[in-house]
Amino acid sequence: VTVVALVPAAGRGERLGAGRPKALVPVRGEPLLTHAVRGLLASGRVDHVVVAAPPAEVDQVADLLRPLGPAVHVVAGGGERTDSVRLALDAALTFAPAADVVLVHDAARAFTPPEVVRAVVDAVVGGAPAVVPVLPVADTVKQVDADGRVVGTPDRSALRAVQTPQGFAVDLLRRAHAAAEGAATDDAGLVERLGEPVATVPGHPWAMKVTTPFDLAVAEAVLAGEEG
Ligand code: C5P
Repeated sequence: VTVVALVPAAGRGERLGAGRPKALVPVRGEPLLTHAVRGLLASGRVDHVVVAAPPAEVDQVADLLRPLGPAVHVVAGGGERTDSVRLALDAALTFAPAADVVLVHDAARAFTPPEVVRAVVDAVVGGAPAVVPVLPVADTVKQVDADGRVVGTPDRSALRAVQTPQGFAVDLLRRAHAAAEGAATDDAGLVERLGEPVATVPGHPWAMKVTTPFDLAVAEAVLAGEEG
């Protein structure tokens, strides 16, 4: 089995307000992106990593990741996350034409434990064509209308928060992106639009997405605990 991981890392990181692309914001001395790529490789299941970098930062990102070895490739990302994934997928099929499993992993989920990566790969290899790591939802979630008025309260026990890496049979992800109209917030959503089943495996709190300065402080604390 050949596994290729795509890492969309081309976002501007405006909600983080660090004045640079989020993937390049350091945590404990290393950029989020470096942590994310190292975590994928540490799973022992990933053969190639293709990073979609901010177009103006491709050379800088390639220099940054060169120490992680020749399995890591860097290409220019696009205007929306979906565009960055599609560009990375096209590139992956030239670097790894024999790939049968593809993971899509946000650079912002930089501290995802390698066990989660393995669980996703193993589920795809085991026959599930699309797999997402999930956690139960702690908060009650309301659906609201355009004016912010509550229109419903979905049964919390049936809700899950979705993380990455999301795993796919390569052909299914290609079909999902070819059929995609407009942007999606996750790749499994595109697969669902095709009417194909999406399976779940347990996620992990450390696979949280770093979006705000608060998240960055949490990530620093998690890593401080891990390193003792
Ligand atoms: O903005 P958000 O946190 O949802 O972004 C999720 C991931 O998608 C981040 O790793 C970000 O760098 C990436 N992204 C991208 N290209 C874009 C926008 C976001 O690769 N145009």
